[in-house]
Amino acid sequence: MQSKQSIHGSWANRWIFILAATGSAVGLGNIWKFPYITGENGGGAFVLVYLFCIMLVGIPIMMGEILVGRRARQSPINAVRETAAEAGLNKNWSLIGWLGVLAGYIIFSFYSVVAGWVLHYIAGMGTGQFVDISSDLAGERFTNLLASPDQMLVWHTLFVLMVVGVVAGGVNKGLERATKIMMPALFVLLLVLLGYSVNTGSFGQGWSFLFSFNPEALTWDAVLVALGHAFFTLSLGMGAIMAYGSYMGKKDSIGVTVLTIGVLDTLVALVAGLAIFPVVFANQMDPAAGPGLMFITLPVAFGQMPGGQVFGFLFFLLVGVAAWTSAISLLEPATAWLVERFGLKRLPAALLLGVIVWLMGIASLLSFNHWEEIKLLGMGIFDFLDFITANVMLPLSGLMIAIYSGWMLNKHITRDELALGSNMTYSAWSLVIRFIAPVAVMVIFVVNLYDKLA
Ligand code: PHE
Repeated sequence: MQSKQSIHGSWANRWIFILAATGSAVGLGNIWKFPYITGENGGGAFVLVYLFCIMLVGIPIMMGEILVGRRARQSPINAVRETAAEAGLNKNWSLIGWLGVLAGYIIFSFYSVVAGWVLHYIAGMGTGQFVDISSDLAGERFTNLLASPDQMLVWHTLFVLMVVGVVAGGVNKGLERATKIMMPALFVLLLVLLGYSVNTGSFGQGWSFLFSFNPEALTWDAVLVALGHAFFTLSLGMGAIMAYGSYMGKKDSIGVTVLTIGVLDTLVALVAGLAIFPVVFANQMDPAAGPGLMFITLPVAFGQMPGGQVFGFLFFLLVGVAAWTSAISLLEPATAWLVERFGLKRLPAALLLGVIVWLMGIASLLSFNHWEEIKLLGMGIFDFLDFITANVMLPLSGLMIAIYSGWMLNKHITRDELALGSNMTYSAWSLVIRFIAPVAVMVIFVVNLYDKLA
């Protein structure tokens, strides 16, 4: 069991794994969603709660996912089945793997639509279409994009192809190569944008918005949003991290690695906030603009600033790269499973899944226009898919992973994989994964669901 290898390959070294997992974690969640939910929930106090959630729920569950993946060295579905067999448990525990892979796959279908908008904005910024644009016009442009299925289809298709192209290359020639190029590019772009916002934006105002602690702004609802987001941003509960973990070196410490990924992901979210809010404030715009913050507020802000065309273009390029590396990790678990289960080659496996997910994405993009009338539980298709994945499938899958790795797997398996050196650290993990994380997740799950459906 110890010297097992994955048939898909393995990461060249620990840093590649850290970068690949960070590539999965850093995505639209960090750059689009984190800034706007921070904006909506009043800033500093929300950020603090979010950090607690990362530490107490995100990090331990991520360790649980990786240990299962690395133990079995197979796609999530088979990894859970195999570790269950090793621990003498019922093989139906592999349902956890199914749930995760399915959730990731559904998320990919609508994530790709939003990523398509980003590609559209890269082109728009690059060709100067937002120079000196008014708020009204920027709003109208975005509305027009959503009203045009043809335009969205072009960008959605391109994005799916970009992802399939990388996943088809396999772990070493696809994922690893993409990671080596895209992650350094991502960090450089982020620093360039930070420099721009320090020099050109209202940096002090942006800083104090993110870090001044004003507990009055914090509501119970905001705590739930923070907890849910901790999950989404670390790519937990959908097989992505488990699949990546199955390609991880046996000797690398899971604890240290996961901590590094958590810190990097958080840093990127904070730096993204520091790059965005000063630009927003410099143009006297509203930080609480919601999902439109990136697609309406920012283009207007960039359009009015010196050098804004270039930096606006770089900004959307950054978001595009981040979304790309995340989507790759959404397609990988299902692809690995098809290869294992049916002996398919990577290319046909990735293509087949790409075509299905592309069709599903079309349903999402039509829900903004022709299919606007179709409602599931009172929501359009796009919102419904977002809702069942983020609020139902992910928490459920995260909860099951916590229970499975904390309560069900034998101690010798978890201790052997985690090899946490001291007993103290292992006990700390064990305490958090058995009690704190599941209770916290159960709370989001129930309250969130109650809130949405009541
Ligand atoms: N973590 C990614 C983000 O923050 C989203 C994602 C979710 C990626 C699930 C992979 C798997 O945008």
